Amino acid sequence: MSGDSTVPALECRDVVKQFRRGRGFKKKVIRAVDGATLTLYPGELFGLLGPNGAGKTTLVRCIATLLIPDAGTIRVLGHDVFKDALFCRQQIGLLTSGERTLYWKLSARDNLKFFAALYGLTGKERDKRIEYLLGLLGLQEVANERLERYSSGMKQKVSLARAMLHDPKLLLLDEPTLGLDPQFGRFIRGFIKEELNKKQGKTILLTTHYMDEADELCARIAFINQGRIVDIKSPEEYKRDIPHKEILKVRCLGQFDGELLKGVSGIERVSAEFNDGVTTLNIVAERAEMVLSEVIEAVRARTRILGVDVQEPTLEDVFIYMTGTSLGADTKEEHETQYQD
Ligand SMILES: Nc1ncnc2c1ncn2[C@@H]1O[C@H](COP(=O)(O)OP(=O)(O)OP(=O)(O)O)[C@@H](O)[C@H]1O
Ligand SMILES: [Mg+2]
Repeated sequence: MSGDSTVPALECRDVVKQFRRGRGFKKKVIRAVDGATLTLYPGELFGLLGPNGAGKTTLVRCIATLLIPDAGTIRVLGHDVFKDALFCRQQIGLLTSGERTLYWKLSARDNLKFFAALYGLTGKERDKRIEYLLGLLGLQEVANERLERYSSGMKQKVSLARAMLHDPKLLLLDEPTLGLDPQFGRFIRGFIKEELNKKQGKTILLTTHYMDEADELCARIAFINQGRIVDIKSPEEYKRDIPHKEILKVRCLGQFDGELLKGVSGIERVSAEFNDGVTTLNIVAERAEMVLSEVIEAVRARTRILGVDVQEPTLEDVFIYMTGTSLGADTKEEHETQYQD
């Protein structure tokens, strides 16, 4: 069954996971995942994009069989993760960030040997696999050094190697570039897309709250907010489907706010950023050219214009439009509800 390419690599149906917090009257229930449904087809690089506290990690932990959902079903290559946990765990490689999932007192090589044993890999087969992964990630020269001496980027490489030890078909990568410097971030993103997805054909569920990352890597993205999947589409479809199509950016000398454009018709929203003596006005309009001349006139009446640019909306704009929440926001406490027995 698992060899059949028409069988989804991952299927989540109406998954609910609640956490209970506090006691007595203060008892609260948090619906961390609130009826999530999504399907990943073999070979897909799929993004789960949402702000802090949206429920991304909780859903990933349910899929990885580390948490038991309160409702719903999860299938990996057609097998139920709870009825067939052993099979499913063999198919899944999990990378979580920010947690101490590796032993910092051990070297990279010894860490990988330890985790290989958990997958039943031993002897020559194990050593071959470990050397291959160390080489692939450019870790061979430092492989005998203790992880405590590694930078966070290097540790993340070891975590990736760990997730790939048993050559799983489905990779769950939870915020794989969180907290990394730009150079490591770029390496990890390139590695995920080019090596893991394109070359090795892995199916990948990647969670992130960096919209650029989802935009760059993923063919389809599920927006998640307050435990609910808001929509699932390609980045292009999201951008096409919001009513405002363009963002006009006007840079001008001095400090101003949106009031400057009061009276200009056809503007949906204006925000202003001030930096180094220059204000950038971000003007959302259905079509930039329809407001352009009036905008220029209004700004020129007050100050000098330094530049004008028209941009397509970003995924951030789409997310704000659909949920009213910025991707940078922390929504952890927002979807708590009073618990009633
Ligand atoms: N073990 C737990 N006990 C109680 N509440 C929890 C637990 N784990 C998560 N939560 C709560 O569930 C909600 C979803 O958290 P989760 O970590 O899944 O979000 P996330 O999208 O991964 O956020 P982040 O971007 O911060 O990683 C939050 O309100 C969080 O506080
Ligand atoms: Mg998380």
